[in-house]
Amino acid sequence: MKFLACIILIAFVLMISCDSSQRDSRSGNANSPSIEVSSFGRIPDAGEVKMYKLDNGRGMVVEIINYGAIIKSIQVPDDKGDIRDITLGFDRLEGYLTEHPYFGTVIGRYGNRIANGSFQIDGQQYSLATNNGPNHLHGGLNGFDKVLWDEVRQWKDQDSLHLELSYLSPDGEEGYPGNLQVILRYSLTSNNEIIINYKARTDQKTHVNLTNHSYFNLDDSPTIEDHELKIIASQFTPVDNTLIPTGVIDNVSGGPFDFTSLKRIGEHIGSNNQQIEIGGGYDHNFVLNKPSLESPSITVRSNLSRIAMDVYTLEPGVQFYTGNFLDGSIVGKSGGVYEKRSGFCLETQHFPDSPNHEDFPSTLLNPGEEYTTTTIYRFYNF
Ligand code: GLA
Repeated sequence: MKFLACIILIAFVLMISCDSSQRDSRSGNANSPSIEVSSFGRIPDAGEVKMYKLDNGRGMVVEIINYGAIIKSIQVPDDKGDIRDITLGFDRLEGYLTEHPYFGTVIGRYGNRIANGSFQIDGQQYSLATNNGPNHLHGGLNGFDKVLWDEVRQWKDQDSLHLELSYLSPDGEEGYPGNLQVILRYSLTSNNEIIINYKARTDQKTHVNLTNHSYFNLDDSPTIEDHELKIIASQFTPVDNTLIPTGVIDNVSGGPFDFTSLKRIGEHIGSNNQQIEIGGGYDHNFVLNKPSLESPSITVRSNLSRIAMDVYTLEPGVQFYTGNFLDGSIVGKSGGVYEKRSGFCLETQHFPDSPNHEDFPSTLLNPGEEYTTTTIYRFYNF
């Protein structure tokens, strides 16, 4: 009898401990938040590249390197609790030193294109590097994505881990006027959010439009066409055949550019539409109805992994790019081949070519003013 009671007791204890360990691994409360710093290699003549691993202790990890202020990985749990890296990129520094389409990088001084690489400020003409046909793209030949950023500080507070990086872009770099001091803050919160805050100051009038160029794929499918997307934008800026806005602001009104309610990305991507044809898919700036850090302007989700991402931003626009230029020639993380449309970008930003469009929200930064903007990416299962 005693023996039987003993067996029952042991079975009961085992059941309880098994149940509570399942609970722990699901809630992911096992670790305390941490920032781990390691070497990611060296760049000849520039120095050591550091990698910062931010782990919020709740199953979400973000790796950032100070070359190009690149987000190297975003690791989030899927609905089964398995951790997935949902960004495109490389395992090693060598990959990031090759010509690549801005995987995870910060973009500056100017996200997206400036027509003919030129603009005027107070009647003076400035000529920028032209690195995309006749146009200037993503800051030029050696933009903020290809420089080594300095660590300012890293710290933890109650809810978040923070990393601050800085870069001083000298007067005349890539043709832009003014010394521009930029400070970038990455935070990872206990609520599975990445918050990027950008700040900049200049000593001469200049144009600034900073963004992040992460490519997402929430379920590792060969293309992202089955992801569902919502962008609360009633308008977008159509482009000419060099992808410069024509200046017209068009209504999305039910057409291929209408993502005002959740829609498969691939739903209209092959449609017979002049703008889709020019972009080879989506490569367009959407005019956000209500940029805000209180409610998301964008939601994207995968029904396979049941991972969802909400994007909150203070920027007036977002460049939705469906990786149309990827063509299988890049071998990325774990030997994966990046085929056309294997990732999408949501580059929160001011509109492309704003310096040449007076009626677009201005990107001009004056001495004495502070450029500051924030974008939040929140991850969850649904
Ligand atoms: C942006 C542009 C695209 C392309 C990619 C990088 O999203 O709008 O046209 O240049 O960057 O390949």
